[in-house]
Amino acid sequence: MPPPIPEQLTKYEKIEALVKGFKLSTLTYKRIMHLLDAEMNNGLTKHTHHVADIKMFPTFVRSLPDGTETGSFLALDLGGTNFRVLLVKIDELDVDIQSKTYLIPQRIMLGTGQQLFDHIADCIGKFINEHDLKGQKLPLGFTFSFPCRQEGLAKARLSKWTKGFRCEGVVGEDICQLLHEALKRRTNTDVEIVAIVNDAVGTLMSAAHGDRACEIGLILGTGCNACYMETLDNVGLWDTDNKDKAHPNQVIINTEWGAFGDNGCLDFVRTEYDRELDTYSINPGKQIMEKMISGMYMGEIVRLTLERLTSEGLVFMGADRDSLLFERGKFYTKYVSEIESDHDEFFRNTKQVLEELGIDNFTTEDCKIIKYVCTLVSARSAFLAAAGLATLINRLKKPEMTIAVDGSLYRFHPRFHNLMSLKIKELVHNGLKFKLSLSHDGSGKGAALVAAVAMRLRSLKV
Ligand code: GLC
Repeated sequence: MPPPIPEQLTKYEKIEALVKGFKLSTLTYKRIMHLLDAEMNNGLTKHTHHVADIKMFPTFVRSLPDGTETGSFLALDLGGTNFRVLLVKIDELDVDIQSKTYLIPQRIMLGTGQQLFDHIADCIGKFINEHDLKGQKLPLGFTFSFPCRQEGLAKARLSKWTKGFRCEGVVGEDICQLLHEALKRRTNTDVEIVAIVNDAVGTLMSAAHGDRACEIGLILGTGCNACYMETLDNVGLWDTDNKDKAHPNQVIINTEWGAFGDNGCLDFVRTEYDRELDTYSINPGKQIMEKMISGMYMGEIVRLTLERLTSEGLVFMGADRDSLLFERGKFYTKYVSEIESDHDEFFRNTKQVLEELGIDNFTTEDCKIIKYVCTLVSARSAFLAAAGLATLINRLKKPEMTIAVDGSLYRFHPRFHNLMSLKIKELVHNGLKFKLSLSHDGSGKGAALVAAVAMRLRSLKV
């Protein structure tokens, strides 16, 4: 049970007491960075890797696009509620994309691995028929946005499910093989899976195609994750022969930093709302940092806070208990962006959201309070992501660099970009310059580019 708030406080003091946990000092963010940096080292080091929460998986992607890649590729994108199949045509000047999105029903997200891969194979089969691609053996890049231990560019074993997925029988299996088998079972198509990549990696590759200073990829969407280009000498985990002259002495590391805090090291900053959200999630105790940042959870944190304020009689005095505000998962993260986009006293978006939630008895003061809660929760999220990026920027020590960002939270929230930029400036070592740049279709274009680079390098070897 959360602690009671003292009766003698004024209404505003009571509200403050219930939300102050979202306001963290710069010193606290620096402490978080210190812990994060240490955990990243644990992840990269062979003898501590197995106990580290941040896995720092080497991806086997070692070369960025150099602009000479060309050809047609299939790309797949799986990671949220949708599955996309793309046909990507790359030439030296342009990238042309045709794509189709297919829904993944929740029963499949929580079903068996075979059901999931059969469903995916069916969608690919339809796409191939609709685009007249039968008989063409196109190289395929698969953006699979979950933590994977890679054994090669096209061999990746799922280490655990995250976000809304929990399909039986997939953890520990090679995703490429499961896809291959499903394609054989359900369609008669023959594709060559050339690469499997994480969405953060796709985002970095896609942006690096046009900007050579790009060193970090960040996803702020349903989930939150980052990757960066690391020198092989710092990757204790790397034991593959690296005399391969086709590649520079580097590899992209998929940090999987969403799992930071799973060992309890973030407990000192978690609020009662974070704890409750975690208890009722499909993976309690897991992905603690992700649950404080990403789009899958932000709306619910706001909802839990408003629920507590309501039960203390501090907001929505006239709200009906049947309202969706009191139902788990019914306050979407897009509402946070909409509410924070209200800039005058009319609160148009906020009123619209309240209507959708079935609350029709509210005051202007209620609107101010709901907006205040949204700004605190989203600022904490942006600042935590900024602390993560600043940790990477300080590790890389490059005087200037670009960070490629993708994901619905970053795209649609009105203040995320600015909040993050300001906080990173405050947290990076003196003189290190950076730029946050929106990456377009990192997952689709990025996967095709990884495949394209692999094909280019392959052709150099023969
Ligand atoms: C989750 C996944 C990670 C992915 C991120 C963004 O954190 O574990 O692999 O990159 O979500 O989609």
